[in-house]
Amino acid sequence: MTIETATATDKILSKKNGSVGHLIINNPEKRNAISLDMSVAAGDVMEDFLADDAIRVIVLSGAGGKSFAAGADISKFEKSRATKEDVENYAKTGERFRLLLKGSAKPTIAMIRGYCIGGGFAVALNCDIRVATEDSSFGIPAAKLGIGYASERLGQLVELAGPSAAKDILFTGRRVPAPEALRLGIINYMVAGGDLEEFVENYALTIGNNAPLSVLAAKRGIDEYVKDADKRDYALCEKVVADCFASQDYIEGRRAFMEKRKPAFTGR
Ligand code: COA
Repeated sequence: MTIETATATDKILSKKNGSVGHLIINNPEKRNAISLDMSVAAGDVMEDFLADDAIRVIVLSGAGGKSFAAGADISKFEKSRATKEDVENYAKTGERFRLLLKGSAKPTIAMIRGYCIGGGFAVALNCDIRVATEDSSFGIPAAKLGIGYASERLGQLVELAGPSAAKDILFTGRRVPAPEALRLGIINYMVAGGDLEEFVENYALTIGNNAPLSVLAAKRGIDEYVKDADKRDYALCEKVVADCFASQDYIEGRRAFMEKRKPAFTGR
């Protein structure tokens, strides 16, 4: 059963399907360009998914079949991103969604069809996993618009593709086709257009059926590991591992193995 929840704008949709929460960017007439209002609504949806115990995996996608997201809504820049104050306010407001996505305690999957550009690419990079159709393309046309990104916001691309490929993508502003994105490690999986939804659904279910505390321990452990050593939260890393070994799910996992049945994990 799918439960749809209204958000502050019909350009961001929230759907819950069992253990999977779907956040859909729904501005297809602008190739799913993201306005500040949409970013606020997307932050609200993330908060709702994170607070809902029934949701174990979050999938982000774009409506309309042509685009995941074509970045920030450029048509709004004149009004909302022109002066120094506007630029700061814009960054601060947009930051909430980015931080909720990046810090999400639940695994996030970007399900990408078509254009994945600028801020849309950033949304995908802030997810844990990216699955894209073979006709998708990726780019950061900042240099074509006169935009600059703070070092922190370039981090994910550098981590995935390395500094040289990141420079190539940013210096040229070119569009990287999905096969190249796969080779560079920017996307985890490339699938045929007709297979995308089914692939992601099965993938999300695979994660959703696993022990949530183990998935969280992996997520936190890896995200802390890629930080500079002096910025790592070692106490958090120890806690998430201790939580696994103290959990009912650990008992359930080993019993199910011995009894040759599928485990039923609760996240406790
Ligand atoms: N902001 C606002 N409007 C956008 C947009 C954006 N980021 N991206 C696309 N649109 C609008 C176009 O202006 C156009 O509007 P119109 O129908 O009123 O003319 C509509 O979406 C369709 O775009 P179009 O360029 O005709 O589609 P396309 O399929 O040929 O190309 C893109 C798609 C995504 C490659 C192209 O629209 C593009 O390069 N967009 C800008 C991407 C960008 O620079 N993003 C970074 C922002 S920080």
